Amino acid sequence: MLKKPVAIFISGFGSNLNVFLERKDLFESLFVVSSNHKAYGLKRAKRYLVPFAVLDPKIDWDQLDERLHQHKIDTLFCAGFMKIIPASFIEKWQGRLFNLHPSLLPKYKGLKAIERAFEAQDDIGVTIHHVSAEVDSGAPVLQKVAVSKENLPGLTLEEVRRQVQSLEHQLVAQWIDLFK
Ligand code: GRF
Repeated sequence: MLKKPVAIFISGFGSNLNVFLERKDLFESLFVVSSNHKAYGLKRAKRYLVPFAVLDPKIDWDQLDERLHQHKIDTLFCAGFMKIIPASFIEKWQGRLFNLHPSLLPKYKGLKAIERAFEAQDDIGVTIHHVSAEVDSGAPVLQKVAVSKENLPGLTLEEVRRQVQSLEHQLVAQWIDLFK
């Protein structure tokens, strides 16, 4: 049975979007929403012939909601989406709106999460969580350590970033496996 239609929200490179695109045939449909018309992720969507929408700088969330319903989208997955989602929109999608964050939430919410955990020489990891009105604060769905604090000494920030990104792709693939 095909998985329900999912919209992936991006703003940039889209390496996590690519995990969905590579598994496109598992889904009834995919739809990409980008807040940035220059996002490399849009090139990826075009390559896989997946429809996309580029949001205006001032996002019309009601119009977006309408568009998602037109595409019969059932669930939203934020993967590097750099805009704050208003509470009214979150309420409409409660329970069907997920986000990928590069830290072991609830620690290191917000931007530069990897850098801050690295600075603190703390455990570094990835979380996929429900989106709630407070940023990076919804219930976790999947969480895994990429590099434990014991293994940090001797690793550069770049090496840690690469391990985080690789774990993100694994966790997104795991989320897709869980998703009906
Ligand atoms: C990822 O690190 C994700 O956790 C964060 O933004 C980054 C997106 O990377 N929210 P990509 O665009 O999927 O490569």
